[in-house]
Amino acid sequence: MSTFVKLAILLPCSFFLVALIKFLYDYLWIPLRLQHMMNSQGIKGPPYTFIHGNNKEATKTTNEALSKPMALRHDIFPRVQPHVYSCVNRYGRNYLAWDGKRPELVITEPELVNEVLKNSVTTFPKRKPTFFLTGIFGNGLVTALGEKWVKQRKLANYAFHGESLKNMTPAVIASVETMLEKWKGYVGKEIESEELSKGIQDCVMNIVKKREDEVLNGKANSFGNDFLGLLVNAYHDSDENNRLLMEDLVDECKTFYFAGQDTVNSLLAWIVFLLAIHGDWQEKARREVIEIFSNQIPDSEGMSKLKTMTMIIYETLRLYGPPNGLPRRVTREVQLGKLALPASMDILVQNIAVHHDPHMWGDDVHLFKPERFAEGIAKATNYNAGAFCPFGLGPRNCVGMNFATMETKIVLSMILQRYTISLSPTYVHSPIPYITVQPQHGIQVILESLGNDT
Ligand code: HEM
Repeated sequence: MSTFVKLAILLPCSFFLVALIKFLYDYLWIPLRLQHMMNSQGIKGPPYTFIHGNNKEATKTTNEALSKPMALRHDIFPRVQPHVYSCVNRYGRNYLAWDGKRPELVITEPELVNEVLKNSVTTFPKRKPTFFLTGIFGNGLVTALGEKWVKQRKLANYAFHGESLKNMTPAVIASVETMLEKWKGYVGKEIESEELSKGIQDCVMNIVKKREDEVLNGKANSFGNDFLGLLVNAYHDSDENNRLLMEDLVDECKTFYFAGQDTVNSLLAWIVFLLAIHGDWQEKARREVIEIFSNQIPDSEGMSKLKTMTMIIYETLRLYGPPNGLPRRVTREVQLGKLALPASMDILVQNIAVHHDPHMWGDDVHLFKPERFAEGIAKATNYNAGAFCPFGLGPRNCVGMNFATMETKIVLSMILQRYTISLSPTYVHSPIPYITVQPQHGIQVILESLGNDT
């Protein structure tokens, strides 16, 4: 055989061999070594399987759990995150899972949750956004990292606090009034509670969009001093270093639309559902609203006095809050509690597990009991911040939290002033995990007028 022929055979063979060794190193050696390293620190978990990790098993259990409706109870954790539920029960409150070949430390212990989220900019940053996430949110505040995040967050912090927030109240009230006008036709009939909240969001978003169009078409150059206004001002900033690109402005609008819409929609839908089946709490909340606002339009000052409603909002977020966890990563070898973590580790804070943990909340963990929050979050969680974090925690917590709470309080107050709500017999309890927990077939309720719907 000539040297040329030998080379022609040997070269591809050696390339193939090197590629195979690299492949086995990445997909077998590294995961098994990591698994051993974590096991030796007491962290167990479902065993790594070649290439797929635990993904196949997780998809199968989720499909099974979601294949049928559940009884009218609130223990939704085994349904919306069945794989996490079974792993926590089997391997403990913190365990190692495998997203393909990527190791993921799932944590549900409040102390560790606190440590990770409080250090979310430095030691445990957010992961680089996936293609899917960038598609939904654009590259806005939810997914931004580093300097870009610092700049955008400053702007958003300013827009969603204090006076700026108060300035948004009239827009929300106007939207709710438009929605309630439509409801008049539904009295005594069945209505989708999710549809209702969607209506409000659509109105708010239309206002935002209209103003965006006006500026984009050059019809106006001032947006006022709310978040959109601040964004557009930053876009026109004379200092090039501070100036926001048009691409970033659009991404930020997308981010706020999706981060704000889906979340508040489902919160409102689940509150309406819970008040429909817990008539005593509906009555308590109504009494409080009438005491504070009588039958007048809600105002910012009165909203801060809505104690019962705040308790109801917290308890709803505990039971039906965002289900998919908060993803973070480790960028260098670090210590988390007593654990030594290698640089390539991902972390997933599973707050749904924390919110449904009987060790934390007691044997009545699955019952709707807003009175848990009667003396505030700190008392309810025994001063353990990581135990209740529906809006996240630390520097990357939800920037829209106050806006979401304000919006929810306005909508609920205005509904309770006018209607009693009961659950329709056609409702089927089927919560499913999306970005938030959603009612798969909507929530059908029946409204009865209290005679104040003029
Ligand atoms: C019930 C309503 C809401 C819930 C439960 C909720 C939940 C959350 C959570 C858990 C995070 C933290 C994510 C993480 O740490 O990885 C977050 C971040 C964020 N939320 Fe919300 N959210 C709500 C409403 C809103 C609203 C109304 C807006 C805007 C109008 C908004 C905008 C954002 C933004 C921009 C971030 C990213 C902040 C950053 O990374 O600096 N959210 N939200």
